[in-house]
Amino acid sequence: MFSSVWSFIKRHKRKFIFTGVVVGGVYVLGKYAQKKMGEFQENEATEYIAQARRQFHFESNQRTCNMTVLSMLPSLKEAVVNQLNSESLTALLKAKPANKLEIWEDLKIISFTRTVVAVYSTCMLVVLLRVQLNVIGGYLYLDNSAGKNTNPLAPPEVQQQYLSSIQHLLGDGRMDTHTHTLRQAPTPPPPPPHTHTLIGVSLKQSLSLLELEQQLSWIRAEVEAGSERPMSWYMLADAEDALADQACGLTENDLATIRLLNETRDMLDSPDFNTVLNATLNRGFSRLLDNLAEFFRPPPGDSASSFAPDSLSAVSLPLAKIIPIVNGQINYICSETPSHFVQDLLMNDQVKEFAANVYETFSAPHELQK
Ligand SMILES: *[C@@H]1O[C@H](CO)[C@@H](O)[C@H](O)[C@H]1NC(C)=O
Ligand SMILES: *[C@@H]1O[C@H](CO)[C@@H](O)[C@H](O)[C@H]1NC(C)=O
Repeated sequence: MFSSVWSFIKRHKRKFIFTGVVVGGVYVLGKYAQKKMGEFQENEATEYIAQARRQFHFESNQRTCNMTVLSMLPSLKEAVVNQLNSESLTALLKAKPANKLEIWEDLKIISFTRTVVAVYSTCMLVVLLRVQLNVIGGYLYLDNSAGKNTNPLAPPEVQQQYLSSIQHLLGDGRMDTHTHTLRQAPTPPPPPPHTHTLIGVSLKQSLSLLELEQQLSWIRAEVEAGSERPMSWYMLADAEDALADQACGLTENDLATIRLLNETRDMLDSPDFNTVLNATLNRGFSRLLDNLAEFFRPPPGDSASSFAPDSLSAVSLPLAKIIPIVNGQINYICSETPSHFVQDLLMNDQVKEFAANVYETFSAPHELQK
C-alpha cells in the first residue's frame, strides 16, 4: 500500500526539480535586472528580487502541497478502513447471525471511531505535510540561492527520507495506537442528566443533530484529554524509527534527516502549531456535522420544518439509522476529488499563515550559519 505513496513522492521530486529550474531562471533574470538598475539602487533591488523570488517559490510550493494532500487521501482512507473494518461486520450481518445485536454494538463503535479517526488523520495530514513541504521548500530555496558549488543543505536523498516519515501518520504503527485510544474513547465525562455514553445509547434510541454533536465533542474531548502523548507523537516518527534500516552507522545524509525531523518536532510541539491544529480540527468536525445535518432535514411540508427551521433538535433519528450514515462519512472526508471538507482545510487562513512563517524561517539566509 505504501509503495504507491512512495512512488508518488518520487514522482513528485521532479516537481521540486522543476521548481528549482524555474527559480534558477528567475534568479538569472534577477541578476540581469540588477545590473540594469545601476549600482546605487543595488541594495534595494537585491532585497526586492530576493523577496519576489521567495514569494514565487512559496506560492508554487503551496500548490504542490495541496496536490500532494489530495493524492495521499486514498492511501489514508485505505489505512483507516483496514484498521477499522466495518465492512466485514456489515457482511456478517447480512447472514442474519444469532449474535446480531452484538455485531451491531461493534458496528456502532467502529463506525464512529473510524469517522473520528478519519477527521483527525486528514487534519493532521494537511498540517503536517504543509509544515514539511515548507521546511523542504525553505531549504531548497537556500540551496538554489547558494549555487552549485556549495554542499546542498537538503540533498534529494535527505528530502526523500524526511518526507517518507509521513508514512508514520499513514498507519505504520501509530495509527494503531491512535485507534486504540479512540476505541476506549466513547466514554464521555460525567454525563449530565438525560444523556448517555455512546456505548450506553441503545440502537433504538433516537438522537437529534444536537445530541449527535454532543456525542462527537465528548469523543473529541476524551481523545485529546486522554492522550498521554503530545500530538506530534502521532504525526512524526522518532529518528530511530525513521532510520530503522540504517543498522550500520549513520551517514551525513542520515544526520541531516535527523536534524530536520528534530526541528520539525520542535515546531509541532509549539503552542502556535497546536493552535493551528486545533483550529483545523474545529473546522473539520464542523464540516462533518454540516454533512450529517443533510440527513436530519425535516421532510418538506412537515410541521416541524415550518415551526423551527433551524433547530438542531427538530428531527431525531434512531441510532440504528445514524450508524450507516456516520459509517459512510469516510468516503466524503478522504475523497480524492476535492470535497468541501478537504478544501476547507487546505484554504484555512491560519494554516496558510503558519506555513508562511515556517517557509520564512527556513528560507532566511541566516539559517545557513546553523
Ligand atoms: C535530535 O534530538 C534528539 C532528542 O532530542 C537528540 O538526542 C539528538 O542529538 C538530536 N539530533 C540532532 C542531529 O540534532
Ligand atoms: C480549541 O478550540 C476550541 C474552540 O475554539 C477551544 O474552546 C479550545 O480551548 C481550543 N483548545 C486548545 C487546546 O487550544
